[in-house]
Amino acid sequence: MTKLEGVRACVFDAYGTLFDIHAPLRKLAPEIGPEAENISKLWRQKQLEYTWLRSLMGVHADFWHVTGDALDYALEHYKVHELGLRDEIMALYLKLEAYPDVVESLQAVRNKGKRTAILSNGSPSMLDSAVRHAGVEKLFDAVLSVEDVGIYKPSRRVYRHAMQKLQLHDAPSICFVSANSWDAQAAAQFGFQAVRVNRFGLADDRIPGRPAALIADLGSLAALI
Ligand code: LAC
Repeated sequence: MTKLEGVRACVFDAYGTLFDIHAPLRKLAPEIGPEAENISKLWRQKQLEYTWLRSLMGVHADFWHVTGDALDYALEHYKVHELGLRDEIMALYLKLEAYPDVVESLQAVRNKGKRTAILSNGSPSMLDSAVRHAGVEKLFDAVLSVEDVGIYKPSRRVYRHAMQKLQLHDAPSICFVSANSWDAQAAAQFGFQAVRVNRFGLADDRIPGRPAALIADLGSLAALI
């Protein structure tokens, strides 16, 4: 595996990379039935689409709002109308599980003397809740939200925000880690050394930007830097 040279900080995407976004519907599957997995996938797809649409429209609303709108769409699409279910699912989104490889690999990155941060679409309160619930708050030097910028990924302004906050003036000194191919590719196009974690077994998106490395899970990250 080719080593990434000159990395001073690893910056992680949150949802789908550190936190298991499909955990809420998996937990409620016994109540909801066999469509639970499809609802979860459509919810995620719409959540992302709404961030991109709002960014293009210039009408920002925070990720909590967008996540709720996307869930409403997915539940309506699958004709799921149980009273209280929407709020139950949203509450679970504040308490997502971290993927099993997160704690050890973050520790390994930090043991190499690299700084660690989150750069996410999530609002500060959502991220605060997720990080606390997963018990990983001590593993990050900074938790950065797009709310400070007012536009969603993959705007270059968001990636630039991480450089400013970490006071790193040279883009390749940041190793950006995401399981979302479009996010890893856009970060690579921006100038970061990007690593895609292929948690979902998906192909690269047909957009500009080529990550420096593709790994199966976070366990092999520290050996790269
Ligand atoms: C995030 C979304 C893209 O955490 O997963 O920014």
